[in-house]
Amino acid sequence: MAEYLAFHYLAPKDLLPRGHVPPFGIKNFPEACATLLLSEAKRQQLKPLRALDLGCAVGRSSFELARKAPEVVGIDFSKAFIRAARTLRKKASVRFPLKLEGTRTRMTTAKAPKTKYRTLVCFRTGDALRLPDLGMFDLVLAANLVDRVKEPKKLLQKVLPSLVRPGGLVLLTSPYTWTKEFTPSSRWPKDSFPSIRNILSPDFRLLRRQDLPFLLREHRRKFQLTFADATIWKRRSS
Ligand SMILES: C[S@@+](CC[C@H](N)C(=O)[O-])C[C@H]1O[C@@H](n2cnc3c(N)ncnc32)[C@H](O)[C@@H]1O
Repeated sequence: MAEYLAFHYLAPKDLLPRGHVPPFGIKNFPEACATLLLSEAKRQQLKPLRALDLGCAVGRSSFELARKAPEVVGIDFSKAFIRAARTLRKKASVRFPLKLEGTRTRMTTAKAPKTKYRTLVCFRTGDALRLPDLGMFDLVLAANLVDRVKEPKKLLQKVLPSLVRPGGLVLLTSPYTWTKEFTPSSRWPKDSFPSIRNILSPDFRLLRRQDLPFLLREHRRKFQLTFADATIWKRRSS
């Protein structure tokens, strides 16, 4: 939990030891995802009314999407993550123990954006592969989710087309860290990007692809550097 609150609500420079700057121009990842998707919407002259953050964790991207979309739904499997996201929505901040080393921690504050944006977001627990009817969305963000679900093909082939309205956009990001813990190895693609493109292309057109690097902080002197593959897709008209 603390690792995710830090990842979502602290700036990368505040996670690093004093005097160091984040490498590769790394920014706050959930904020960067929302910015990337909203910028593409602007480029496409799409004024988003409804946005969905699938696998929203503790909710930062959902709040960022609300800067431009008047209705945002954030969904995650984890009750604890959704509880934290709802607390941030209500109280604007939460205190959490940021790990220093061993069992030592420092109490730190995670701050959410202004009330105006927070109140536009609704957080719900749910399974991305078994969603109730949520209607269609203009924007869907699935950040680092595809390699965390049991059936990645179902997410891409069935779930996403059912959620995105024609002309709407999806931002997928993933480092493609396939593990048996989350996905049976029989369902791991051999080469992730071409497989994803094959599955999505009947319903979506690829607009953009770029690396989106991020730092996950384990403790004050240990970080994991990842380069997520970020792809933006536009739902075909029919
Ligand atoms: C690697 S985290 C990414 C979180 C967030 N999108 C981000 O980029 O920081 C994957 C998230 O997906 C959630 N998740 C995993 N399987 C899910 C499922 N089937 N339905 C909904 N959420 C799921 C996890 O609880 C976790 O919060």
